[in-house]
This record gives sequence, structure tokens and C-alpha cells, in this order.
Amino acid sequence: MRLILLGPPGSGKGTQAARLEAECGLCHVSTGDILRQAVADGTSLGRAAKARMDKGQLVPDEVVVGIVEEKLQRPECRKGFVLDGFPRTTGQADALGAILRDFSAPIDRVVALQVDEEVVVARLSGRRTCEECQAMYHVRLSPPQAPDVCDRCGGRLAQRDDDREEVIRRRLAVYEESTRPLLDYYAAGGKLVRLPAGGPPDEVHAALKAAVGL
Ligand code: AP5
Repeated sequence: MRLILLGPPGSGKGTQAARLEAECGLCHVSTGDILRQAVADGTSLGRAAKARMDKGQLVPDEVVVGIVEEKLQRPECRKGFVLDGFPRTTGQADALGAILRDFSAPIDRVVALQVDEEVVVARLSGRRTCEECQAMYHVRLSPPQAPDVCDRCGGRLAQRDDDREEVIRRRLAVYEESTRPLLDYYAAGGKLVRLPAGGPPDEVHAALKAAVGL
């Protein structure tokens, strides 16, 4: 299964992609996670991306396309993958189509997770992520057992630099302008499924698997 998860910031792409990886063995490809790791490692990619990410702006297409192409060539992605946060522009979607044509491995389904803006702001402003293992929590909706400590590995939980309310609003505006047009792009190819995603994670997960036939 080759799957794209589309949706605004906070719609649950990362949460659902991680569960599909754990349960169904799909390779989870998150451009946001790869860029944040590059920032943490202080690589030239990370230094170039950080200023844009902190402002809620997109990193240039050629940078993220290169990252995804490299990742999709790895053996673990050959048996199936779920793309989380990519593509985000029609330029990225065209590039992805060309890469997958070379692999003779077209996308099977594109799922657009649909959530209201105020739900997104509430989810993201309460999100905390483990600095060690990247496990995700929410201060109110899915809190850790001890404040700011990861249940899984004991690492410190931190707030993402781009999860401040003014940056969240900017990311939503960028989504509307640059990424929402991809819904029509993939609908035209008959691959798009629109999925209400405002319910609890288990409910969304069950609906998602049913929608894609997993
Ligand atoms: P990225 O990391 O991709 O951020 P995003 O798309 O804004 O998505 P988020 O990670 O914020 O949300 P999500 O939909 O994954 O939701 P999540 O599951 O985490 O990108 C960050 C930045 O990197 C971009 O702004 C850009 O600068 C750059 N970038 C990345 N990709 C790029 C690209 N292709 N091109 C150019 N630039 C790129 O959930 C959020 C919270 O809600 C969590 O706390 C979670 O626990 C909670 N939650 C999830 N689901 C539910 C639910 N059903 N009910 C209750 N709570 C829930």
C-alpha cells in the first residue's frame, strides 16, 4: 500500500501514520520529522530549514523532494509507505509522480484528514513531543504520567518552536494557499478520500483503515 495523508497542521497525520507503521508495517515518511532531526543535528540542511520552519513557512520544493526521493529508495519503503506532510505543493506532487513512475509504483490512495481550525489550534498548542524518542503527548487530551517526562523512555517533553499560536495560524494560512489545491489535484485522478478526523484517535484510525482497505 502506498498512501498519502493530506490535511492541515494538527489534523493527525503524524499520529495516524505512526499507527499505520506500527500495525501494518508501512514505512512512515515524515518530512517534518526529517527536517526537525536535521535541525537538532545542526546539519547544513537543518540550518537552512530552521528559520523557515520557525516562521511557519514551507522549505523549498527542491530540498524536500530530494529528501523524499532518497528515503523512498530505501529497502524498508519498497514494501509500502505512508507519506506524512509531503507533498505540500503542486510542484512537489508533480515531482513525486515522476519519482514513482521511475519506480513503477503509483500511489494507491490519498486521504485528506478534515478537522476544524479551532480543534487544530487546541491540539497543537497542547502538543508535547519527547526529545529522545519523538513520542507525542497532549497536555490535556493524552497527558504523560509525570509532567514533561516521556512515559516510554523517560526523555524530556518539549513544545515545538512552531506550535505557538501565531505560528499555528500562519501554518494554517500556508496550508490553505499552497496545499489545499492538492485535494482537487488528487480528486481529478480518482485517488482522493475525504475523512472527517475530529474524533478520538482510535475512531479516526478505524475509519482510515476502512477507507483504504487495510
Ligand atoms: P510538519 O511536521 O509536517 O507539520 P504539520 O503538517 O504542520 O503537521 P503537524 O505535525 O503539526 O500535525 P499532524 O497533522 O501531523 O498532527 P499530529 O498527529 O502531530 O511540518 C513542519 C514544518 O516543516 C512545516 O511548517 C514546514 O516548514 C516544514 N515542512 C515539512 N514538510 C514540508 C514539505 N513537504 N514542504 C515544505 N516544507 C515542509 O497531532 C497533533 C496533536 O494533536 C498531537 O498532540 C496529537 O497527540 C493530537 N492528536 C492527533 N490526533 C488526534 C485526535 N484524533 N484527537 C485528539 N488529539 C489528537
